[in-house]
Amino acid sequence: MLSFSKVADLRRQIGDWRRAGLRVGFVPTMGNLHAGHFALVELARQHADKIVASIFVNPTQFGPNEDYARYPRTPDTDIDGLRGAGCDALLLPSVEEMYPFGTMGCVQMHVPGITDILCGAHRPGHFNGVAQVVARLFNMVQPDVAVFGRKDYQQLQVIRYMATEMSFPVRIVPAPTLRETDGLAMSSRNQYLQGEERQTATFIYQTLCFMRDQAALGMPPGGIEAEARQRLEMAGFTVDYAEIRRSDLSRPRASDEKGLLALIAARLGRTRLIDNLEFDIA
Ligand code: PAF
Repeated sequence: MLSFSKVADLRRQIGDWRRAGLRVGFVPTMGNLHAGHFALVELARQHADKIVASIFVNPTQFGPNEDYARYPRTPDTDIDGLRGAGCDALLLPSVEEMYPFGTMGCVQMHVPGITDILCGAHRPGHFNGVAQVVARLFNMVQPDVAVFGRKDYQQLQVIRYMATEMSFPVRIVPAPTLRETDGLAMSSRNQYLQGEERQTATFIYQTLCFMRDQAALGMPPGGIEAEARQRLEMAGFTVDYAEIRRSDLSRPRASDEKGLLALIAARLGRTRLIDNLEFDIA
């Protein structure tokens, strides 16, 4: 696997591949990679000839009291894992390479509407930072396809909107959520969980299944959400939201039977966990 810290060097390599008629797939990450990330690389491989991954803990998507400083950075094991997953090139840029005029001097981005709800309402500025860095990465790599996990469903929707609205010539490929055997969605933040929190964390997936099952029984979304929140709080979570939404993240209508999601964001100790479950009730 080739490794680049400078965008100009990566671009030269990608230019060679393009001249040879090869399609480029892209998997952006913040590192601390797990099986879920390697599955993204494998999925990208189904759509492209050469796979580029990036590892960059993006400061602009973290709020002032969030975990930017302690976000786990494990480049050596990440590089081994990406090599094993068949990745062809890695972009590992510095903050200066990504933001040459600094994070205060950089061009700002705002994706309207969809970023005001759910995680956007609880992490002000987060999705602006995500859109900003993903737009930069798309411009640097210029991939034919880019793969994003469905676990970060709202992020996926923000990126789809941004890529369409800004005419990036890239196809966004969503990847299924990978779960541990007890249902916990794989996430780099799972390793923050202390002692019994790891077991308690499985309650998020159980609650998503409860929400889906109650929807199938005809319970109205408001009632499901109130009960889900109460169950999570009883289990020790501080709940940001537990909501039923349509696949475009608008509020569901009484007649909706297909394309629904249950979404949860909740904190356990110092760890904020998110997950979602897509379902139909017909
Ligand atoms: O999902 C992530 O890991 C990050 O939000 C992303 C898309 C790599 C942007 O920093």
